[in-house]
Amino acid sequence: MTLSPTPIHETVREHYAERARKSDSCCGDTNCCDNQLYDDKLISDLPTDIASFSLGCGDPITLAELRPGETVLDLGSGGGLDCFLAAKQVGPAGRAIGVDMTPEMLAKARANAAKLNAVNVEFREGYLENLPAEDATVDVVISNCVINLSPDKPQVFREIFRVLIPGGRVAVSDIVTNGPLPDVVQKSIEAWGACVAGALDMKEYVRGLTEAGFVDVRVRPKDGASKMLSSLPVGVPFSATITARKP
Ligand SMILES: C[S@@+](CC[C@H](N)C(=O)[O-])C[C@H]1O[C@@H](n2cnc3c(N)ncnc32)[C@H](O)[C@@H]1O
Repeated sequence: MTLSPTPIHETVREHYAERARKSDSCCGDTNCCDNQLYDDKLISDLPTDIASFSLGCGDPITLAELRPGETVLDLGSGGGLDCFLAAKQVGPAGRAIGVDMTPEMLAKARANAAKLNAVNVEFREGYLENLPAEDATVDVVISNCVINLSPDKPQVFREIFRVLIPGGRVAVSDIVTNGPLPDVVQKSIEAWGACVAGALDMKEYVRGLTEAGFVDVRVRPKDGASKMLSSLPVGVPFSATITARKP
């Protein structure tokens, strides 16, 4: 099946192509080398330019509790950081596969893989809504701040379900809301690229994954503080961890 990209895909692709192009100057005269999303121990043995190039909103690697030998699929792999971390944890008997629709990001990720001599990592061009992976071939699907960018989230959830093995797991960081975003934000095409306008209400996230067939679905604020939710105004986007299991 081929997928016809929507205007949202095109806008998001152009946004991230530009981020990939600009990242060449990362670590010049800016402070962009800080990556506070991950524990230092996790990223300390990577070159700074690779460790610092994250456009994510959390740490799906720690969430995933990867085991040696597992096959990991990273949706919207960007510069490849989560794939490199996953590949190290699953070891030579496992592998990490990144999927991204933006050629400039894929080029960056592949160049980073060559720099690291990473052998159990590959990057495939494709869409979240039509994943370039066979049915039931993946142990763990990870993703970092990408599903909110999709114009068709139910299709993404069906695709994740399709590629996972029975018992396979989902470990995702993403932006969600606790109530509908204001109309003006939802309609802002710029706000899609910035990971805001497409953010799902957390109850919709649970419903979407459940309707796709998943069990043990949990969507939690990133810091785990449940009290944060009660103090948060309605319709404000925030970073969350999402876990689920294919029966
Ligand atoms: C916010 S960045 C996150 C990149 C990476 N996960 C990270 O943590 O640095 C979003 C990435 O997802 C890709 N992307 C967005 N929507 C996509 C879609 N529908 N299908 C495939 N890739 C997509 C973009 O090209 C971009 O590289």
